[in-house]
Amino acid sequence: MQPLQDQVALVTGGSSGIGAGVAKCLAQAGAKVVVNYSSSAEGAQQVVREIESEGGTAISVQADVSQADRVQHLFQQLFDVFGTIDILVNNAGLQKDAAFVDMTLDDWNKVISVNLTGQFLCSQQAVKEFLRRGIVPERSCAAGKIICMSSVHEVIPWAGRCNYAASKGGVMLLMQSMAQELAPQKIRINSIGPGAIQTPINRSAWETPYAKAKLLNLIPYNRIGVVEDIGKAAVWLASDESDYVTGTTLYVDGGMTLYPGFATGG
Ligand code: BGC
Repeated sequence: MQPLQDQVALVTGGSSGIGAGVAKCLAQAGAKVVVNYSSSAEGAQQVVREIESEGGTAISVQADVSQADRVQHLFQQLFDVFGTIDILVNNAGLQKDAAFVDMTLDDWNKVISVNLTGQFLCSQQAVKEFLRRGIVPERSCAAGKIICMSSVHEVIPWAGRCNYAASKGGVMLLMQSMAQELAPQKIRINSIGPGAIQTPINRSAWETPYAKAKLLNLIPYNRIGVVEDIGKAAVWLASDESDYVTGTTLYVDGGMTLYPGFATGG
């Protein structure tokens, strides 16, 4: 028996990086997966093909998660195909880095609207369905599970990325407040706080030997993460194995949040 057997999962931003890895891990655990994407139809289709080639079930659906009407449409397509939703992974996110004094309002708004407002809009649609449907004991002892993809930067300030750090700090209290409000309805909401996971979003931090060596100084466990590190955590948080866990951030970061500078100083 697979831990997510017969459950329906939506992964936003599932066409690349952490989202693609999470989508595949959830499918391997038995979930039927909706791979949402914003612009890379080909990337999303590739993830769907890989899931299908392993015997899983998946579809891809386009939607910009920062737009309320697009999010409604995304959920409508999910309901048309799979009927209901059990697991939402709020993964879609991006960076638009700039020094604070140079950051444009557009760069600020874009990051906040995808990374934070997108999580609000998708969570609201999922929670409406969880409340309408309630618990289905054959599938899970919770009425629904939400996993917010946050970052170590929900607690680590990040110069040159004020918009991104603010969005992830916002995700932390959005997640905790939703979890507090919805726990009595048996809806579990948690975050994953990835550290440096090797994906396109942080290519410049690992692609040269010099950059990689500098990055490893920030990771006590001394390796860069892979998307499967996050996928395995997502499967656990989505499954009944974590039934008593709600309102927490699970940092999957090789120790990046442990103030590595203090290992030799202070
Ligand atoms: C960022 C990456 C960065 C990592 C660790 C993530 O949230 O998106 O660019 O490498 O945090 O700093």
